[in-house]
Amino acid sequence: ITNRTFTMIKPDAVEAGHTGAIIKMIEEAGFRIVAMKKTKMSSERAGQFYEVHSERPFYASLCEYMSSGAIVPMILEKENAVADFRKLIGATNPANAEEGTIRKLYAKSIEANAIHGSDSDENAQIEGNFFFSRTEQF
Ligand code: CMP
Repeated sequence: ITNRTFTMIKPDAVEAGHTGAIIKMIEEAGFRIVAMKKTKMSSERAGQFYEVHSERPFYASLCEYMSSGAIVPMILEKENAVADFRKLIGATNPANAEEGTIRKLYAKSIEANAIHGSDSDENAQIEGNFFFSRTEQF
């Protein structure tokens, strides 16, 4: 069944000029862009987005990094979107990411790993609504 996932191109990849190449890979893999923008989070807002990780040792650094530059959040639609998108981006740690995945190609480190992908349908909806109102989702 067709469903949606949420992604954002992270500051390292936007800064390095990989936005266009990454969007091209996403569209060529069959995802339809439902919503997209370029924006920047404050560290407080990054803290809200990553609230589930607030007890992790990397939380403060993650919030600082995710608010260090522009990001490109998107809502994407495809059959089996959440699982297929996680295959396209590869493992969280680029050292473990498969050849041809977005993270293998563009991630710099386990933290600056180029791109986010939701881990469930429920989180995809929560995360998409964090950035986009209903009237911005087509
Ligand atoms: P993502 O899976 O999109 O969302 C959580 C983020 O936390 C993850 O990408 C990385 O950017 C970061 N992260 C996860 N694990 C670590 C880690 N061990 N050290 C530093 N950052 C991490």
